[in-house]
Amino acid sequence: MENFEFVSPTHFVFGRGAEEQVGAKLAEAGARRVLVHFGGESARRSGLIDRVGASLDAAGIEHIELGGVRPNPEITLVREGVRLCKEGNVDWILAVGGGSVIDSAKAIANGACVDCDVWELFETKALDHDVLPIAVVLTIPAAGSEASKNTVVSNDELGRKTGYANNAQRPKFAFMNPELTFTLPPFQTAAGLTDMYCHLLERFFDDVGAVPVTDNLNLSLMNTIRAEAPRVLADPENYDARANIMWTGMLCHQGLAGVGRHEDWATHGLEHELSALDPAITHGAGLAVMFPAWMEYVHSENPARFAFYGQAVFGLVPTGDVNADALSAIDETRSFFASLGMPTTLAELGVEEADIEKMLPTLAQNKGVPFGSFKKLALEDAAEIYKLAL
Ligand code: NZQ
Ligand code: ZN
Repeated sequence: MENFEFVSPTHFVFGRGAEEQVGAKLAEAGARRVLVHFGGESARRSGLIDRVGASLDAAGIEHIELGGVRPNPEITLVREGVRLCKEGNVDWILAVGGGSVIDSAKAIANGACVDCDVWELFETKALDHDVLPIAVVLTIPAAGSEASKNTVVSNDELGRKTGYANNAQRPKFAFMNPELTFTLPPFQTAAGLTDMYCHLLERFFDDVGAVPVTDNLNLSLMNTIRAEAPRVLADPENYDARANIMWTGMLCHQGLAGVGRHEDWATHGLEHELSALDPAITHGAGLAVMFPAWMEYVHSENPARFAFYGQAVFGLVPTGDVNADALSAIDETRSFFASLGMPTTLAELGVEEADIEKMLPTLAQNKGVPFGSFKKLALEDAAEIYKLAL
């Protein structure tokens, strides 16, 4: 097991009516003036923004609103949020939405405490500044940003989408009411399930050998996703299935499922270039295409690890040929994503062979070269993996 540090300061309020406690909990924590940050329309349409506003009012907390975060959030709105925080003496940020809203809120929380342009933090990865405290009302289980140390933001002008990690931006509160996810369209539910599953794959396949305590947690979360996915897709208002998935999505990415390991994250890097190329590409859908392609390309580094995964998650019986067993595990993974309604080729995402060359320079900027840990990848390897996914 590798050395590690693990910080997880998030206070979770989970279950029916969780969002009604926003005002009381933030008041207890000393919030006086809150920026309520949200997405396109779902949270407004469902009445959630009004309910959260009423909860803040009842606790005597002033609040201003900034909506309009798009999926694959963009730096322009972040800058607007920074301006509002600085001019309005905002002392807490409340993100009401999914990964995109939370990531935008995290970027704002950093930007509000620095003098430079907020994008510089994504370039320099600086950590020596304060960060405004963040609370989250989660509406889609997927990215795990409600407890993670990461934010991922696009800069359309530069054609980039890149991450910034800082333990100080981990949310202080996450209000998680599974009922808020009943309205998710099937595609978003499925993309979320795919993303959380891939957060486990990124951790399970690296260059560290077995770490049983971490591996067993990781595998049990994979099995939970596989068991709950058909239930939630067949019956979107199944509270129990929604609740299990919501909590699983958090556990997949707050960090515990990877402690003691190096982790890999090559495939997330490959996917972020797709979403930078075309912001209409949903993160989970891009991963559904890229992960099996990455697996095919790298499995020969350690086929036994893939065979073990196939047995533990898909119940595959060893054939005596470990390479064949590894390939079967990869097939099962692709079929699982397809069973959720996810795409299996780049063509389905509108990405063509000619696009590959366009993505490589920004991939190198964002990830550095070589990247990944299970197999160290050069840009030529990345191009081959994209080709396998065509
Ligand atoms: O904008 P609205 O109208 O709210 O619609 C959203 C959006 O279109 C909709 N939605 C959310 N909750 C809903 C709902 N529709 C109906 N009912 C509800 N209850 O869902 C759509 C997708 O929302 P988004 O926030 O984009 O989804 P997700 O949580 O998957 O976040 C994706 C973003 O997170 C990043 C991704 O790269 C992507 O930009 N990630 C962030 C990570 C992190 N911070 O740790 C890690 C991840 O690996 C990921 O990279
Ligand atoms: Zn992800």
